[in-house]
Amino acid sequence: MTVDILSDLHLDFYFKPHLTTSENVISLFTQIFTDNCTREIGNVLIIAGDIGHYNEQNIEVLKTFQKKFYKYIICVLGNHDYYLVDSESKYAFENDSFKRVEDMRKLINQEKNMYCLDGKIIEIEGIRFAGADSWYDGSYVKKYYTQFDSNHINLLWNRNINDSRLIKGISRFDDIAKLEMVKLEQIYQNCDVMITHVNPSFDEEHINEKYHNSPINTFFTFDGSKFYKNSSMKYWIFGHTHDSIEYEMEDVKFLCNPLGYPNESQYGDNINMKSFEISL
Ligand SMILES: [Fe+2]
Repeated sequence: MTVDILSDLHLDFYFKPHLTTSENVISLFTQIFTDNCTREIGNVLIIAGDIGHYNEQNIEVLKTFQKKFYKYIICVLGNHDYYLVDSESKYAFENDSFKRVEDMRKLINQEKNMYCLDGKIIEIEGIRFAGADSWYDGSYVKKYYTQFDSNHINLLWNRNINDSRLIKGISRFDDIAKLEMVKLEQIYQNCDVMITHVNPSFDEEHINEKYHNSPINTFFTFDGSKFYKNSSMKYWIFGHTHDSIEYEMEDVKFLCNPLGYPNESQYGDNINMKSFEISL
C-alpha cells in the first residue's frame, strides 16, 4: 500500500472557517496531493497534527479529502489543535482545551475509515498504525543547556511559545508530555508505523540547521529513543516543525512533510508530497 504523508495543514490560514467550500478544498489539494498532476495519490493519508484551529472546518475538509482523494485517513492532533483562539471557541469548550481535543477526536473517529489515534493502534490491510499526539519534554535543553533547570524552561515557554497562552488547562510546558508518554508506552511495541506530532529526536543533526543553537528547540522535540530502539516499527511520521525532514536510526525511517502556513508553502506550490510503500 502507498501511504502519503502530510502535517501542519493549518487549514484556517488557507480557507475562511465559515466559508470553506469543497470546491475550494479540492482545487488546492488536488494540486498538493498530486504534485501538480505528476503523481498518483496513495491509499492512506497520514496527517501528523496541526490540522487547524476550528473543529467544524477541520472535519469538513477531512470529509472532502476522503470523498475525493483517500480511502483511509489517519491523524494525530498537534499543539494548534488544542488552541482556543477566540471567544467563541473558549465559550464552546468552557475554556478547556482538552474538551476541544475530545470533540475533534470524536468527530474524526465517527467517520468510517477515518481515525484520530490517541494511544491506539489500528490495522489496515495487515499494517499496524500507532499514534499519539506526543509532546515536547525538555530533553533538548537538558542535553545542550545543562545550566537551565525546569523552572527556567517554563519561563522560556511562557515568554516565547504561544502554547502557553492559547492552550487552556495547563500550567507547565511538559504537562501534556506526561500524559502523552503513557500513551506511547502502550503502543510502541506493536506497530509498523508510528505517528506523532513532535519530532522524537532532539539531536541537532535531526533539526534544521537554521534553528541550531537555540534553547527554543526544546519546544519542538522530545526523547523518543526508548520507543524506536525497542520496537518493530519501520516508519515514524511526525510534524510540528515546518521543515521537511528525513533521517534514519535503528532501522526506522523518520519522515516529516509539513504543509505549513500559506507564505511558507506558497499556497501549496512549494510542497512535494512524501510517501512510502509498505506491505506485509
Ligand atoms: Fe505544531
